[in-house]
Amino acid sequence: MRIEGKEYRTIWYEGKVVKIIDQTKLPHRFIIKELKTVKDAINAIKVMEVRGAPLIGGTAAYGIVLAIQERNDFEFIKKNSEELVQSRPTAINLKWAVDRMMKKLSGINSDQILDIALNEAKEICDEDEKFCENIGINGLRIIEEIYNKKKDTVNILTHCNAGWLATINWGTATSPIYHAHKKGIPVHVWVDETRPRNQGANLTSYELNEEEIPNTIIADNTGGILMQRGEVDMCIVGTDRTLSNGDVCNKIGTYLKALAAHDNNVPFYVALPSSTIDWDIKNAKDIPIEERNSEELSHVEGIDENDEIKKLLIYPSKSKAMNLAFDVTPAKYVTNLITEKGICEASTEGLKKLFNK
Ligand code: MRU
Repeated sequence: MRIEGKEYRTIWYEGKVVKIIDQTKLPHRFIIKELKTVKDAINAIKVMEVRGAPLIGGTAAYGIVLAIQERNDFEFIKKNSEELVQSRPTAINLKWAVDRMMKKLSGINSDQILDIALNEAKEICDEDEKFCENIGINGLRIIEEIYNKKKDTVNILTHCNAGWLATINWGTATSPIYHAHKKGIPVHVWVDETRPRNQGANLTSYELNEEEIPNTIIADNTGGILMQRGEVDMCIVGTDRTLSNGDVCNKIGTYLKALAAHDNNVPFYVALPSSTIDWDIKNAKDIPIEERNSEELSHVEGIDENDEIKKLLIYPSKSKAMNLAFDVTPAKYVTNLITEKGICEASTEGLKKLFNK
């Protein structure tokens, strides 16, 4: 998608380095950062220079390429692949991408391993782009249906950033929105700010602006009243891990939005590529929920009147704070899942039908 009119993907390999858009600096600075070592990739995932389930999967895949470039030694590659998986615990895409890379590389001799790893990392990213595009084509039908009934702007609420910046391109939750916009359907997006890191305000609103899609940032607690007033036609969010029974783990606050949607008969969709499905864990209680540094809550960052980035403490200095990064929305509150293969019920049967598992 575009930034200042120029097309980008979120990650690419060029001249032996991996290039990323540093998302900790958006929306105030657009900085392309180079990852040169596997430790750079691990750190970029940890500090969230790259974030969003599909993108951290793609970064982990390229992280293995960087490990091979540094030291073409299987023990070194394996040790770092394990560290990549641990770099963030909740999104299943990290493990999915690393497992796929390591399976591809097992038994390959050392003079071929770099080329094969590079091809596979590129393939993982190209596939994600294609899957996200298909999610958009499938989800467009839902927006079109609402528009055909309403004959007026379709108001869509989203939480966090499941946009192109969270994937390789297109996004998951935003892909149907981009497709609707390209087709000339009038859409307006309510963007949850998404405390504490403000991915909605800093990233979703930013990327929608760049594509000239009308959007309004709201505080995370505003969605409920908007739904009561009939000002939300549908919700679409992304997911970091979807269980085979249709339960969905996503950015903290998603669950409360789903409850409000349920109470107000607003359809609540979750968009995902199949790389986000965890076919092993059966119980949502077993999903590792990331707890991040409480500084993300107690401090806010922004630019001052001199265009300088500043970080400020906003809590009483003696207060404790707790920063759980994800929650689980039970399948019963999810209207449908939108995947690259089509739309299905958020249930074991629904997912089985689409994915033949
Ligand atoms: O902590 P983040 O910013 O990585 O969380 C991202 C989300 O919660 C997204 O909704 C999810 O990864 C899906 S991205 C298509």
